[in-house]
Amino acid sequence: MGLNEGMSAHSLAVVVLAAGQGTRMKSTRAKVLHELSGVPLIGHVLATAQALEPDHVAVVVRHQRDDVAAVIAEHAPAAVIIDQDEVPGTGRALEVALAALPASFTGDVVVISGDVPLLDSDTLRAVIAHHREQDAIATVITTVLEDPTGYGRIIRDDAGLVQRVVEQSDAGEEETAITEVNAGAYVFARDAATKALAKVDTHNAQGEKYLTDVIEQLARAGNAVQAVRVEDSWLLKGINDRAQLGDVQARLNRMIVRGWQLAGVTVVDPASCFIDVGVELADDVTILQGVQLHGATSIASGATIGPDTTLRDTVVGPGAQVLRTHAEGAEIKAGATVGPFSFLRPGTSVGQEGKVGAFVEIKNSTLHRGAKVPHLSYIGDAEIGEGTNIGAGAITANYDGRSKHRTTIGAHVKTGSHTVFVAPVEVGDGAYGAAGAVIRRSVPPGALAMSVTTQRNLEGWVEANRQGTPSADAAAAATKGTK
Ligand code: UD1
Ligand code: CA
Repeated sequence: MGLNEGMSAHSLAVVVLAAGQGTRMKSTRAKVLHELSGVPLIGHVLATAQALEPDHVAVVVRHQRDDVAAVIAEHAPAAVIIDQDEVPGTGRALEVALAALPASFTGDVVVISGDVPLLDSDTLRAVIAHHREQDAIATVITTVLEDPTGYGRIIRDDAGLVQRVVEQSDAGEEETAITEVNAGAYVFARDAATKALAKVDTHNAQGEKYLTDVIEQLARAGNAVQAVRVEDSWLLKGINDRAQLGDVQARLNRMIVRGWQLAGVTVVDPASCFIDVGVELADDVTILQGVQLHGATSIASGATIGPDTTLRDTVVGPGAQVLRTHAEGAEIKAGATVGPFSFLRPGTSVGQEGKVGAFVEIKNSTLHRGAKVPHLSYIGDAEIGEGTNIGAGAITANYDGRSKHRTTIGAHVKTGSHTVFVAPVEVGDGAYGAAGAVIRRSVPPGALAMSVTTQRNLEGWVEANRQGTPSADAAAAATKGTK
């Protein structure tokens, strides 16, 4: 029987367990809201759930219920949110979820945990197919771990059949030595799980209604419980504390970077690059050392990013170069160059073939094609026309203490060094500015704007007032014979 035939013949529900407190995270935030590669743990799990195209997705919540529910709604709008009551434990969580499924639903129920983020839909599809081929009522996913500490251990009989799962805190010495663990993911026939759960109590070290006890109930009643052992144990790692979060994060990042390398991206130093799951990279992008790409960042073909660059929600066009830059919510168009040491804030658009240079901060501003802000400037709430060059040390004085105002600069303008634009102000096409200009009034097209005060030189001032200093001596030597 082919996989797809098997999948389509039955209906499917996915239950995600996300009601636990996550005490071991030692956090004020619910465990499933902690992020991995830019997405909350629960977001990863919901993506997997939805990839199975089930008839129902049910998520069980309790701890920080409203915060968790909001994130669920964002990542899986069709998911049904189910509240667990005061009875604690994974078994109780599944019980309330099963009770909430439509009475007419008789299909398979996949159960996954909100804290096992790398378990993927391909693995689950294979497990579902096995479950259906075997006509099973329960299938548990297992893996072998070098260090199984904290996980439930799989107890098999002499014939190798799964008998039960023993939690770490309830395990004896011999059981603790077992390295095959319960991944916390299962497929159940709905009715069998409901009936077995009704018999599960809370008589254990943690005083919880364990989902794992369903396995023992079913095995005791003479059912063969299927187990699918997954070789790549990384896929099944649960996150209970921040050390595990860090380990899984490092692993996932390696997987993401490798995926992009195989898709045609040069990543010079994978260990120093961090790429969120939502990032999009085209062929022939080059990522140099020390690059972090976050959120909805996308980089077009032929662009070079880094070294030492952080981009969040930033769109980079073909062939652009971005080095030693921090950008958020910015757009860098084709062939533009940005950096080193540039800071692009939300609403910045750098035009095609444009340039933003060293120690330049830009926010909420559009630079049209070929416009350049090469050195030491702050540009805020401005529009800079095509081919315009902003001289070194420009400042848009955009805030008057009450509100922000815009600076509009036309095409092919050349401003002098150290210009202040006191907004609101406009500079017409083709205008020039003199060095040190304070532009308080609009400049017509083609005019030269100056706001200089006349320079006065007080001859001999240093020799008269700073006698005996190196400056006075140097001045004396330079003017010797001229007096
Ligand atoms: C659980 C399994 C263990 C398995 C491990 C794999 C049980 C009793 N133990 O242990 O055998 O090896 O996962 O990662 O199931 N949850 C609820 N409601 C609750 C308690 C927990 O929804 O009352 C949710 C949590 O939010 C979490 C998941 O269930 O997403 C697992 O809970 P957790 O407390 O982390 O279980 P483990 O001790 O890791
Ligand atoms: Ca866990």
